[in-house]
Amino acid sequence: MIPAPEVSARPTAPGAVFDWLDEAAELRARAGLTRTLRSRPAEDPVLDLASNDYLGLTHHPVVTGAAAEAARRWGGGSTGSRLVTGTTALHTELEAELADFYGVEAALVFSSGYAANLAALTALTDPDTLIVSDAYNHASLIDGCRLSRSRVHRAAHASPEAVATALAERAQPRALVVSDTVFSVDGNAAPIAGLSAAARAHGAALLVDDAHGLGVLGPGGRGAPAAVGLTGAPDVVATATLSKSLGSQGGVVFGPQRVIRHLVETARTFIFDTGLAPAAVGAALGALRLLRAEPQRAERAREVARTLAAELTTAGLRASDPDAAVVSVRAAGPEQAVAWRDACRDAGLAVGCFRPPSVPDGYSRLRLTARADLTQQQITQAVRTLVRTRPQA
Ligand SMILES: Cc1ncc(COP(=O)(O)O)c(C=O)c1O
Repeated sequence: MIPAPEVSARPTAPGAVFDWLDEAAELRARAGLTRTLRSRPAEDPVLDLASNDYLGLTHHPVVTGAAAEAARRWGGGSTGSRLVTGTTALHTELEAELADFYGVEAALVFSSGYAANLAALTALTDPDTLIVSDAYNHASLIDGCRLSRSRVHRAAHASPEAVATALAERAQPRALVVSDTVFSVDGNAAPIAGLSAAARAHGAALLVDDAHGLGVLGPGGRGAPAAVGLTGAPDVVATATLSKSLGSQGGVVFGPQRVIRHLVETARTFIFDTGLAPAAVGAALGALRLLRAEPQRAERAREVARTLAAELTTAGLRASDPDAAVVSVRAAGPEQAVAWRDACRDAGLAVGCFRPPSVPDGYSRLRLTARADLTQQQITQAVRTLVRTRPQA
């Protein structure tokens, strides 16, 4: 956890009211938890295993062309909130195509996956609802739980049994089981068939965040519910981001028509937020059409992940066993993880780095994205660089 500064005397001068922020930064620095921004040049020569561009579509000419065309036709922004002027015909087209692809009655697009998760969690719960949330859920789901007015039970990671017990013991009439479909740090899949069975046995709904599953899991990348036969289930709602496999920006909620209607009329991050920019809508639509035309991209991303993990393990590194397009490699601690990431970058390889508070203490890792468009030569280059730059324990 990030340490908090000791409570000190009340500031006496205007210039001192933010002094405590410097103390907090100093504590973070001592714990190896400093974070800094680094702007990326347009032509970056490094091999990118840090982005979430799982299918390699962000720079695809179909996607960038669709974004440019949408901006020219509809403008730089959507001009208003979705219920006022922010729903263009392009938004409606994207929602219809997303719903059709995912196999659900309806889809609703948001300005981000974060906003979609806040919407689903706050609109589908109330004080008479128990939320049962996986201990490793993404921060946006955790924040949605905090914003809801429901009691939240933090269930053991990936455990339908723990979920069933919490549901059976609840006092509330309603319950919502919440889980990522693929956990962003290690890339392991949640047991969503088991979670669905537990939810059904106890009259609960299931909400899954398919941010890392859409475009990667299921037939042709139709997502995690499709992979386990839960497509279009009446008691399942899924959320996703448009910023990973679909190479754009924005979020989406998939579900039965009555759930989507309820979100349109009640979800605050839908109602009080400007609609997604047309360029992002166009890019997502372009990427979705590409994925439908080239469904092998989804399987290729999974194959790259398996190859990468196997080669890292053979080389003596502690790699995760990937279920989707994310592979992680253990580091000795937060400082070592940062040093390793920086050494990789100096050697021409961009990788992500997870350390507290994004992950629990003792869990620092490098995170590698197995993009569908990586070649075998690039995979080998990445493994060699990681081995060469590994910090001494
Ligand atoms: C599991 C998960 N859910 C939600 C989000 C948030 O999506 P967005 O970046 O579109 O806000 C992310 C990360 O970006 C994520 O990894």
